Amino acid sequence: MWSGMPLFPERASTMAGRVDALYFFLIGLSTFFSLLIAGLIVFYAVKYRRRKADEIGADIHGSLILEIAWSGIPLVITMVIFVWGASVFFAMARPPDEALNIYAVGKQWMWKFQHLDGQREINELHVPVGRAVKMIMTSEDVIHDFFVPAFRVKADVLPGRYTTVWFEPTKPGRYHLFCAEYCGTKHSGMIGQVVVMEPSEYQTWLSGGAPEGSLASTGAKLFADLACNTCHRPDAQGRGPVLEGLFGKTVALQSGETITVDEAYVRESILTPVAKITAGFQPIMPTFQGLVTEEQLLALVEYVKSLKGLPQVETR
Ligand code: CUA
Repeated sequence: MWSGMPLFPERASTMAGRVDALYFFLIGLSTFFSLLIAGLIVFYAVKYRRRKADEIGADIHGSLILEIAWSGIPLVITMVIFVWGASVFFAMARPPDEALNIYAVGKQWMWKFQHLDGQREINELHVPVGRAVKMIMTSEDVIHDFFVPAFRVKADVLPGRYTTVWFEPTKPGRYHLFCAEYCGTKHSGMIGQVVVMEPSEYQTWLSGGAPEGSLASTGAKLFADLACNTCHRPDAQGRGPVLEGLFGKTVALQSGETITVDEAYVRESILTPVAKITAGFQPIMPTFQGLVTEEQLLALVEYVKSLKGLPQVETR
């Protein structure tokens, strides 16, 4: 009913309808109470206006029923908003396990996308329709914000860490992509397009060109070039932890804490190796800060993620 309204962007993701429903509920609720309150103010101002110069209002000494009502009704309403809002929030915060991962790097002033198969794009993002897509994002410089109105997704993109956002496009087409955080002179020009394609078209597009091979293979090459493989060896004889099968595991740290190995931990361990040393290892790894770019980091992270399937050394 609202889709014809030019004020609202198209709905092109599974989440769009849910976000809009909550939004319209809030608008409706606010409108109802604004009109009710303003109407009553006017009505009572007229009804109880002073008619004689010496008229004085009657004292009122409280009303239990009224006080319960004005506490209870707002409580119910705000709880509805809270539970409804939280359910949408949790759905948006938890990407499905089978989501297609795509990396994004924000930079003054462009969006760089990296597909696992090796394709790279700037200011254009190709995705298949009907499949959940999880964006793993970081920034090379300042704070940016990934915003696709048609999908109703928006998330800050921060230097020094990974943030994620997910969406499942429901309609093929081209959709606006914006940077929604002021990031310098050409912030307004930091825009792009998300191209949603039929799965078959998407496959054709994917096979269209990735001269350098998959992202993980780029990472593997880099891993060897940086000589990471001299310490991180699959046979547990190296001076660093075995990386095979490590991703997603929970490991014990020297500090006695445990941590789940995710993208952020791998990234941190490359840039600031001493920050969280695995129990049983020495803090001897040099930092790679300044030696690898954000995009190379993504390749290394993806390589570590890809190291599965070998006979596993229990790291728990
Ligand atoms: Cu990037 Cu605004």
